[in-house]
Amino acid sequence: MTSPKSSILVWDLPLRLFHWMAALSFAGAWLTAETERWRLLHVTLGYTLAGLLVFRLLWGLIGTRHARFADFVRGPGAVRRYVVALLRGRPEHHVGHNPAGALAIMALLTLGSLSAVTGWAVYEQLGGDWLSAAHDIAASVMLAVVGVHLLGVVVASWLRQENLVASMITGRKAGAPEQGIRSAWRSVAALMLVAVMSYWWLQWPSAPDGVGADTSQLKRNSDGGSNSERR
Ligand code: HEM
Repeated sequence: MTSPKSSILVWDLPLRLFHWMAALSFAGAWLTAETERWRLLHVTLGYTLAGLLVFRLLWGLIGTRHARFADFVRGPGAVRRYVVALLRGRPEHHVGHNPAGALAIMALLTLGSLSAVTGWAVYEQLGGDWLSAAHDIAASVMLAVVGVHLLGVVVASWLRQENLVASMITGRKAGAPEQGIRSAWRSVAALMLVAVMSYWWLQWPSAPDGVGADTSQLKRNSDGGSNSERR
């Protein structure tokens, strides 16, 4: 027998912080990708995304119940059943991520990692044009998957009459009390925030005229210099 539904805590604070900081980092990195003037900001946001992804992979193994990969990564059968039910207008309710949403989420985590690794390799001049092309492709495919992700969130929210965006902000959803998590893990979220802010603060002096320093000069100097000169 299941208990009556109430508002329960589903997403811990580190997961929510990860989500919104990852979304901002990706959006910012995308918007600053094209010009040399914004290169330092682009690279800083890319490295921020990389750090957040490392945290998320770890949190997927040791985090709270619905944050764990074991809780939401499902096989093709579960995805098919979910999509068929959705198309018939009878969407299944999942307190954590639904199976189709989880697929987009895993794609985003993979593409985010690929974008970050190829971006780092391009910045360190480890490859030729093919590496830049791989970085562009990973980021463009990621943008397309973000579009699918947003569409999925809107459709699932509408069909289930449940505001999933609000849940990603408050951490709360409708569910039986035994499906909720006990703690929001605020201390871990505070550590994440301190780590990201400290990294940005350390990057700041490299941007003499504000966040958009022209690093082309630094890049040229670094041909005969050390890596630390570039940052
Ligand atoms: C304004 C833009 C965005 C909105 C409104 C949004 C909304 C959401 C919502 C509501 C969920 C929870 C879905 C569920 O209940 O199962 C979610 C999960 C997720 N979103 Fe977004 N999203 C946005 C942008 C992005 C971007 C740009 C990325 C990629 C960097 C992203 C990556 C993810 C990931 C990885 C998850 C899973 C969270 C986790 O388990 O860690 N989202 N998003």
